[in-house]
Amino acid sequence: MMMSIGMASLPLIFLLIFYEVSSADWGVSYSNSQICALKNSSVTIYCAYTYPTGHQIKKVFWAKNSVKVGEEYTNLSEDPEYSQRLQYLGDKQNNCTIRLSHVTQKDSQNYYFRFITELDKWIGKPGVSLTVTDLQVESPETVKEGHNVSLTCKSSCDLTDRATFIWFRNSQPLTERRDRNNQLLLQSVRREDAGRYSCGVQGHNLTSPVVELNVTFEPSSVSVSIISPSGEIVEGDSVTLICSSDSNPPPEMSWFKEGMFVGSGRIYSISKISSDNSGEYKCKSNNEHGEKDSEAVTLNVMYPPRNVSVSISPSGEIVEGDSVTLSCSSDSNPPAEISWFKGGRILGSGRTYSISKISSDHSGEYKCKSSNKHGEKYSDAVMLNVTYAPRNAVVSISPSGEIVEGDSVTLSCSSDSNPPAEISWFKGEMFVGSERNYNMSKISSDHSGEYKCKSRNKHGEKNSDVVILNIMYPPRNVSVSINGSGVIVEGESVTLICSSDSNPPALDFSWFKGRMIVGSGRIYNISKISSDHSGEYKCKSRNKHGEKYSDALTLCVMSVRWVLWFKAFGVGVAVGGVAFGLGGASVYTCLTKRMNRRSAMKDSGNSDPSEDFNLCNAYDEL
Ligand SMILES: *[C@@H]1O[C@H](CO)[C@@H](O)[C@H](O)[C@H]1NC(C)=O
Ligand SMILES: *[C@@H]1O[C@H](CO)[C@@H](O)[C@H](O)[C@H]1NC(C)=O
Ligand SMILES: *[C@@H]1O[C@H](CO)[C@@H](O)[C@H](O)[C@H]1NC(C)=O
Ligand SMILES: *[C@@H]1O[C@H](CO)[C@@H](O)[C@H](O)[C@H]1NC(C)=O
Ligand SMILES: *[C@@H]1O[C@H](CO)[C@@H](O)[C@H](O)[C@H]1NC(C)=O
Ligand SMILES: *[C@@H]1O[C@H](CO)[C@@H](O)[C@H](O)[C@H]1NC(C)=O
Ligand SMILES: *[C@@H]1O[C@H](CO)[C@@H](O)[C@H](O)[C@H]1NC(C)=O
Ligand SMILES: *[C@@H]1O[C@H](CO)[C@@H](O)[C@H](O)[C@H]1NC(C)=O
Ligand SMILES: *[C@@H]1O[C@H](CO)[C@@H](O)[C@H](O)[C@H]1NC(C)=O
Ligand SMILES: *[C@@H]1O[C@H](CO)[C@@H](O)[C@H](O)[C@H]1NC(C)=O
Ligand SMILES: *[C@@H]1O[C@H](CO)[C@@H](O)[C@H](O)[C@H]1NC(C)=O
Ligand SMILES: *[C@@H]1O[C@H](CO)[C@@H](O)[C@H](O)[C@H]1NC(C)=O
Repeated sequence: MMMSIGMASLPLIFLLIFYEVSSADWGVSYSNSQICALKNSSVTIYCAYTYPTGHQIKKVFWAKNSVKVGEEYTNLSEDPEYSQRLQYLGDKQNNCTIRLSHVTQKDSQNYYFRFITELDKWIGKPGVSLTVTDLQVESPETVKEGHNVSLTCKSSCDLTDRATFIWFRNSQPLTERRDRNNQLLLQSVRREDAGRYSCGVQGHNLTSPVVELNVTFEPSSVSVSIISPSGEIVEGDSVTLICSSDSNPPPEMSWFKEGMFVGSGRIYSISKISSDNSGEYKCKSNNEHGEKDSEAVTLNVMYPPRNVSVSISPSGEIVEGDSVTLSCSSDSNPPAEISWFKGGRILGSGRTYSISKISSDHSGEYKCKSSNKHGEKYSDAVMLNVTYAPRNAVVSISPSGEIVEGDSVTLSCSSDSNPPAEISWFKGEMFVGSERNYNMSKISSDHSGEYKCKSRNKHGEKNSDVVILNIMYPPRNVSVSINGSGVIVEGESVTLICSSDSNPPALDFSWFKGRMIVGSGRIYNISKISSDHSGEYKCKSRNKHGEKYSDALTLCVMSVRWVLWFKAFGVGVAVGGVAFGLGGASVYTCLTKRMNRRSAMKDSGNSDPSEDFNLCNAYDEL
């Protein structure tokens, strides 16, 4: 008789050593007295029974423990907990095999086979002890990467040696694993080995609850990324950096900018970024197992131009002809484009603006404009002050036109120079003044002459052309002179000359004898003088600025008789010559008057006849 028991789906090789319960010929043998079965599996209990020959089998059934109704065991097939699951596979002769499917923990009992003949009955004690077990993975919670760890698939009873354990990680069967009985040995654990482990037995659907294996390791793959903004970083933006790292347990993170600690946490935010925040950032990730730095990430903060200024080279004074370079400096990111302006006019572009031979036309206010795509800014204006020697010196006369004595006249010297020139005035070669305006308040003819000004600054000097001041004045020093041979004798010709000083020279002369106009022209001829011509003569000189009378000249004409008389006294000629030389015509006149009663006095209705008369009287005494 052979009875074998085991687990339904296991490739069991039946144990042929049967477990026999017998007395004489009575007996029940089971394949196994103890069966370890997985929950929900089907268990087949192989069973055989014997009885003495001649007996007829009346009843066969299986019973559980010693549950009896009265004196009789209860038929397990009639127990509602079993009825659906229990299957009697044997017969009514010697095969008592059964199968119990979907075993549960409650099924862990002792089971016996009972058979009854018409003569007697038999219970196959001590029966079969069934233990139903589930599976549990036993594992440490955490393991450090690189260490060895073993996971055990535990059951409450011994499954047969033949049971093949299978392992799952995250529900995926592990094929290539090094199994050792019910243990999973993970050597030199890698982080990928972390996961939800469960175990099972080949051929069974039952798997253990999952157990989490936590592989700890030091931080690796530390990296920084910029979450926002996505593109270019412009000053004022809010910038957020995030540090990611592979690490278990989760790391602590700290942030460094160029080696300086700036913050901690997974996220580093700069709410209003400025260019000062530009630079290389790293994060450091560390946990109990170690630490690691990320690669540096560069924040390049863009900003519009600022600090725009112009510098002039060479510094200091700029003299015409110099080479001058203006440089525009500005701070911006990205670098700016520069353009140049003089006044409102654009000159060009480029960081520098050069003028190779500067002239005064280049003087003025310059500025540069710096622009990039984030904005633009103008520099302050700088003054380019080109200095140069006086270019010219020009004298102007005010008032213009004719200058008449007594006028106020101003000479002005204008000159183009930088810095402004010092002015000197010259009349002829003589220095006369140093103001820009040379004033002559009541000009006189003495001021006539050649004037020029000299304009001078530290770069050179320049003389003006000469201007001539020609000062007009009315006649003056009007006098009458007589051109004759000392003694005026009747019949001779006499020439009276009117001389005067005036500017312009007088052309208009009038002659008066007494109050009567007797002629004109500078020279007054009397071709055959007679005593009738005796009298007082004056001339008047006139130009457009005025007129003036000369003093009166008294003309005394000698009669021929008188001359003869005079000659008879000999010396008289010499005396008369001397007297003539000293006293002039008056003496003669007076002498003549004394000799000639027909005095010309009656005619001399001049302005001051009494004086002349007196003068003549004085000479009468001679
Ligand atoms: C028991 O096994 C059957 C198939 O044999 C399956 O359909 C059922 O879901 C299982 N029950 C449990 C609780 O595992
Ligand atoms: C035990 O119960 C089953 C099901 O009710 C029945 O088929 C079988 O005949 C019974 N056996 C005996 C000996 O009563
Ligand atoms: C008993 O019956 C079962 C099921 O039919 C069978 O597998 C087994 O081989 C039989 N045992 C013997 C000894 O014939
Ligand atoms: C892990 O197991 C291997 C092989 O048994 C052994 O050589 C190694 O030293 C073990 N490592 C540790 C960390 O125990
Ligand atoms: C396992 O379950 C599947 C479906 O749930 C079923 O088809 C299969 O027969 C079961 N295997 C065992 C050994 O119970
Ligand atoms: C692993 O274990 C550590 C503590 O040992 C814990 O801090 C960490 O959160 C765990 N990791 C996972 C993924 O559960
Ligand atoms: C540039 O301008 C900023 C303000 O806009 C100022 O704080 C800084 O000192 C300036 N730098 C220079 C070199 O002028
Ligand atoms: C230019 O420079 C000169 C000398 O340095 C100075 O006298 C003059 O005032 C300056 N001109 C201007 C417009 O600044
Ligand atoms: C010269 O004359 C001008 C114009 O009459 C006057 O403005 C100026 O002050 C005078 N200068 C001097 C030094 O008298
Ligand atoms: C003419 O007048 C000026 C002054 O007006 C005087 O100085 C000068 O001597 C005069 N000349 C003659 C020849 O009388
Ligand atoms: C003055 O008189 C002399 C001779 O008497 C004569 O030669 C001369 O030309 C006269 N001069 C003038 C200016 O009339
Ligand atoms: C005056 O007389 C002189 C000489 O007699 C003569 O040369 C001159 O032309 C005369 N002049 C006039 C204006 O008659």
